[in-house]
Amino acid sequence: MIKVLMVCLGNICRSPLAEGILQSKVDSTKIVVDSAGTAAYHVGNLPDERAIEVARNYGINITGQSARKFTVIDFDTFDFIYAMDDSNYQNILSLARNSRDEEKVQLILKVSNSTEKLNVPDPYYGGKGGFENVYKMLDEACTIISKKL
Ligand code: 4NP
Repeated sequence: MIKVLMVCLGNICRSPLAEGILQSKVDSTKIVVDSAGTAAYHVGNLPDERAIEVARNYGINITGQSARKFTVIDFDTFDFIYAMDDSNYQNILSLARNSRDEEKVQLILKVSNSTEKLNVPDPYYGGKGGFENVYKMLDEACTIISKKL
C-alpha cells in the first residue's frame, strides 16, 4: 500500500480538495490518500462549504472528511507528504526528525514543470473563484501524481 498525505494550514480548504481529487484518480486498493493541517484551528470540522461545493461540481464528495492536525507520526505512516505552500512546507520540515522524514516532503506544485508558481494560494479569505482556481491547480498536479505512483 502506498500512502500519500496532503497538507495545508487549516485542513479545510486546499488539502481536503487535494485528498478528494487524488483519491478519485487512483486505485483505492493500492493507494491510501489522507490530509492534515499544520494548525489545529479547525480540528474535527468538515471541509469549508466552498471547497465542498467546488468538489461536488466536479463529481467529488469530500463531506466524509474531518480536519486533523499534522503530527510527527505522519512521517512514519506516509510515503509521500505534499505541502500546499512554502509556509506549510517549512512547518512540516520543522517537525522532521531526520533526512528520511525530510525526503518525504515536497511542494505539491513541484510535480508539474509547467508552472513557475509553486504555492497553491490560500483561498480561505477570498471568494468562490479562488476555490475554482485551487481546484484546477490541484487537479493538474494530482493527475501527474497519480501517473507517477
Ligand atoms: P487551508 O485554508 O489551509 O487551505 O485549509 C485555511 C483555512 C483556515 C484558515 C486559514 C487557511 N484560518 O486561518 O482559519
